[in-house]
Amino acid sequence: MRAVICRSYGPPEDLVVDEISAPVPAPGELLVRVHSAAVNFPDVLLIAGKYQVRIPTPFTPGSEFAGEVVATGEGTAFGPGARVFGSVMTGAFAEMAVLHSASAAPIPDGIDFAEAAAFGVTYRTAYHALRSIAQVKERDWVVILGAGGGVGLAAVDLAVALNTRVLAAASSPEKLEVCRRRGAEATIDYDREDLKLRIRELTDGNARVIVDPVGGRYSEPALRALGRGGTFVTLGYAAGTIPAIPLNLVLLKGITIRGMEIRTFAGDYPADAARDTAELSQMFAEGKIRPHIGARFPLAEAAAALRHVAERRAIGKVIIDVA
Ligand SMILES: NC(=O)c1ccc[n+]([C@@H]2O[C@H](COP(=O)([O-])OP(=O)(O)OC[C@H]3O[C@@H](n4cnc5c(N)ncnc54)[C@H](OP(=O)(O)O)[C@@H]3O)[C@@H](O)[C@H]2O)c1
Repeated sequence: MRAVICRSYGPPEDLVVDEISAPVPAPGELLVRVHSAAVNFPDVLLIAGKYQVRIPTPFTPGSEFAGEVVATGEGTAFGPGARVFGSVMTGAFAEMAVLHSASAAPIPDGIDFAEAAAFGVTYRTAYHALRSIAQVKERDWVVILGAGGGVGLAAVDLAVALNTRVLAAASSPEKLEVCRRRGAEATIDYDREDLKLRIRELTDGNARVIVDPVGGRYSEPALRALGRGGTFVTLGYAAGTIPAIPLNLVLLKGITIRGMEIRTFAGDYPADAARDTAELSQMFAEGKIRPHIGARFPLAEAAAALRHVAERRAIGKVIIDVA
């Protein structure tokens, strides 16, 4: 089968597409013919050897995909022909991938492979952040940084679905236009406007929640604009630097800063994770949430797909069409 291979840590352009043997499903695993895979920012970090977890090279990157089951190990919940999607640590940017049956979900009727591949990681991340970590309530002002990106736009969609008031902040009019089309009530172009002042103005000082997958120079002004007793959720540092926040701000405003990581959340909070997953699956199956796919690339151009994400050009999800 053809697969993208990271032979040594480096930029996307160092990736190669080559023929390798298809993986063999172990007991409990599904062998899936991948139709679509989705790019996540951590893929860029993983191939550069800069992610929290270092995968020994060579490996095939890619952490979420959708496709058709072609073979199974013993004791799986899906049989050949089933349309499934799911996430893994690596291996999705290939014609075949293995997935543990317990990590696979059926693709709802009416949803195509690309939408299913685009749905997993970012929507789960955003939903746990909003529902379990920030515990948003209807009509709360929720400020979302990097709102045009994968996690950001998923957070916009879900915060809108939860009937909160969404203030989307991003770096370009094009990204903000997509946020408005998807239900954001107000927007801030944080590379052209004063983030702290505009959050205060637009929410009248009542920002209850900040969702931050960006970090860098955006976090502190956003945190300073959070209303008293609000919650700041730190999800990632796509801007490349981890901000250092003066702790007195937390004290003076009585706010809470919490982190959430998708890899550990279900282990730490199994009941919340199960409830969130069930609610999210229902919204997806009912068609209440449809991921926005901003760009698509063939498998042979996987490097360009990762470059698109690395250079801040992605709007919503970037898909790699495999079959
Ligand atoms: N906590 C978790 O469990 C979890 C799960 C998935 C992802 N993440 C993290 O969440 C972050 C976003 O992931 P994603 O897949 O949504 O990525 P993405 O689609 O690339 O979105 C990242 C956003 O960050 C902003 N950004 C600001 N400076 C940037 C820079 N120098 N380079 C790239 N982007 C920059 C961009 O928005 P503007 O141009 O509008 O500023 C971009 O839309 C990453 O740090 C990722 O590791 C965390």
